[in-house]
Amino acid sequence: MEDKIKKAAELIKDSNYIVAFTGAGISTESGIPDFRSPGGLWERYDPSIYAEISSFLSHPEKYWKMHRELSQMVLNAEPNPAHVALADLEHKYGKLKTVITQNVDFLHSRAGNTNVLEIHGSGQTARCLKCNKEFHYTQIQQMLEEEQYVPRCPHPCYGLIKTNTILFGEQLPWDVLDQAREEILAADLLIIIGSSLLVYPAAALPSLAQQSGTRLIIINMEPTMMDSYANVVLHSKAGKILPKVFEAFESLINDS
Ligand code: APR
Repeated sequence: MEDKIKKAAELIKDSNYIVAFTGAGISTESGIPDFRSPGGLWERYDPSIYAEISSFLSHPEKYWKMHRELSQMVLNAEPNPAHVALADLEHKYGKLKTVITQNVDFLHSRAGNTNVLEIHGSGQTARCLKCNKEFHYTQIQQMLEEEQYVPRCPHPCYGLIKTNTILFGEQLPWDVLDQAREEILAADLLIIIGSSLLVYPAAALPSLAQQSGTRLIIINMEPTMMDSYANVVLHSKAGKILPKVFEAFESLINDS
C-alpha cells in the first residue's frame, strides 16, 4: 500500500489540472450511509419506490419518509478528512480545479471546495412543482418538524414540493453535466473517490477521462469496473488514505 500511496502522490505532484469525481462512499465516514454497500440506503428503501419520479408523484409520502431519516444524518454530518484533503488540494496548492459529485450532502462546499458540480442535483433547495416557488432546506426541515408528512406550498397554492435532487427517471441537469464533461477533458488527473460507478450517465464520466488519456487514481473500498484502467487503485477508506496520499505529496514537494 505504501508504494501505491507514493505513486498517487507523484501523479498529484506531476499534475496541474486535477478533477475529483466523488460518490456516496466519500461521505460514509461523516455518518451518511452510501447506497449499495451492506447496510446501505437501498437495502432499506427500494429506490424504485422511494427515489423514482413517477412513484414520488403518486406516493410522495414514501420519498419524504426516507428523506426525513437521511436529512437528519446530513444535517448532523461534518466534512471528514477526505473532504478536507480535497479542499486543501484546491486552496493550498491550486491543483484541484473542480469536484464533480453525485452526492447531495453539500459536504464538499462545506469543506471549502469552491467549484463543485452537483450532477445529481442539490439537497440545499426544493421547489413547488405547481408554482415553481423555491424553498431552502431549512424551510423544508421546519415543515417536516411541524409534522407535515408531505411538505406542500403555502396557501393558496398547496402544490407538491420536491427537493432539487435528481430522482431515478428524471433528467440530469444537462448544463452541469456538460460542464463536468469539459472539466474531465481539461484534466490531466482524475481522482475517483467512493463510487461504485454503476449509475449512468454519471458513471460514463470516468470512462471519458480514460479515453482522453487522463491519468486515473481510484480510491474505493470495493473494486470498480474502472480499476483495470487506473494508474493507481487504493482499496481503502477514503478518510484514512487520502490524507496519507496528501501527506506523501507534501513531503515530495518539500524534498524537491
Ligand atoms: N471509503 C472509500 N470507499 C467507500 C467508503 C469509504 N469510507 N464507504 C463506501 N465506499 C465505497 C463502496 O464500496 C461503494 O463501492 O463507495 C461506493 C459507494 O457506491 P454507491 O453506494 O453505489 O454510491 P454511488 O456510487 O455514489 O451511487 C451513485 O446511485 O442511487 C444512485 O443517486 C444515487 O448518486 C447515487 C448514485
